Amino acid sequence: MDPSVVDALRSAEGRALLTDATAHDNDAHGRAAAGDARAIDPLKAASSLRRAHPGANPSLVSAALSQVRMRRRARPRLGDIVDSLLMTDDGSEQATRTVAAELRAVRYLGSGATHVADLGCGIGLDSIAFARMGLTVTAVESDPLTAALAAANVEELGLADRVRVIVGDVTDDTVLATVLASADAVFVDPARRDPASRNEGRSARVTDPESWSPRWSWVAGVAARVPRTAAKVAPGMPHELTPVGGCATWTSVDGDLVEAEFAWPAMDSAGNNSVRRRALIVRKGEPTSLTSTIDLLDQAPPPVGDIGSWLLEPDDAVIRSGLVSDLAALLGGRLLDPRVAYITTDTDPGPSPLAAHFRVELALPLHIGRLRDALRERGVGRVVIKKRAIGQDPDDIRRVLALPPGPHTAVVLITRIGDDPWAFVCDIR
Ligand SMILES: C[S@@+](CC[C@H](N)C(=O)[O-])C[C@H]1O[C@@H](n2cnc3c(N)ncnc32)[C@H](O)[C@@H]1O
Repeated sequence: MDPSVVDALRSAEGRALLTDATAHDNDAHGRAAAGDARAIDPLKAASSLRRAHPGANPSLVSAALSQVRMRRRARPRLGDIVDSLLMTDDGSEQATRTVAAELRAVRYLGSGATHVADLGCGIGLDSIAFARMGLTVTAVESDPLTAALAAANVEELGLADRVRVIVGDVTDDTVLATVLASADAVFVDPARRDPASRNEGRSARVTDPESWSPRWSWVAGVAARVPRTAAKVAPGMPHELTPVGGCATWTSVDGDLVEAEFAWPAMDSAGNNSVRRRALIVRKGEPTSLTSTIDLLDQAPPPVGDIGSWLLEPDDAVIRSGLVSDLAALLGGRLLDPRVAYITTDTDPGPSPLAAHFRVELALPLHIGRLRDALRERGVGRVVIKKRAIGQDPDDIRRVLALPPGPHTAVVLITRIGDDPWAFVCDIR
């Protein structure tokens, strides 16, 4: 897309095209959902839009159709804000989930930040969240098209008085010095994709933090210059890179681990700087957090013991943040094996966003024949298999179990305790 298309999409003609392309897209998807297999047809959509707007530039028609396609794809992650956004595929894929950006903005506000420098702002989702929280933002983006999209998005949402978008390379000392002069906080979301290397149309992921843009050591250097900095990082970022005295946060949304963030110092909505590790779990829009003020390396070994009446499978954010022992302690539970993230308790822990829980009906060493007999005796004809720290594939286990039909279903958790594989039959219904 050419940067000039951004203005064209925001003109009266561009807006009319977007409105009609959206209506056509909604209608086609509605018909497809009702069973019309040929309803979604990009060629039909283009010719219908061209017929309705005979004078429109064909490249603008095609840009409007692309925006509608990208909005539909991004809606599950970004929500209804997509209706106010213009984007590129790369920009929307790298954009921060709206709920994660909002919760981060709450932490910045709680930490006393007033003016955030968003270094590498992409299409602007974090800048928008900061501004919506009442913070002033200077957003810098090196790619002129992406910067134009961020500026358009900020303006469309009525936030232009709080967000200034600058085109520039943040690693340029003059650009950085100018931006930092007025900011009391920094946010960096380094590009972790390489637009030059594409895989099935998507830019390839870059795993080495020193190959991110900007690179990780540069981010850490900036953090040393401002009172508060946070950086969004890959969920697999090792704990060892947590800033000294800082905080690492892992966020999951409806069961999906979506991001990690390293912050110097820890920021907290209550202004608390002592948190070192945080799991932030969002379910149906509602956040719950579990925190520790102890570094992972300094924490006490977890309580370990025999199977109780309940087994708990912690959320991935709890596991990645190394907070499984903390959750076990909170619930009065213990681990079956110090290296395996299953918690067991003797009493019903009740529903919690922090962990799924299962009532244990039977515990037995994993032996397929014995497991099959036990399930058959209990009338179980269907199983959901969950596993941890064990190589076998659940589908393979289900296949070799070859259960005969039965009236009940069960959840079977398979793991190892020490070197021995075990099966726990739970929740027979
Ligand atoms: C992961 S995206 C940011 C996404 C953004 N947080 C959002 O939610 O929309 C990273 C952005 O940083 C930009 N970038 C990378 N290196 C940069 C640099 N040296 N200076 C300025 N921007 C840079 C990239 O062009 C990309 O748009």
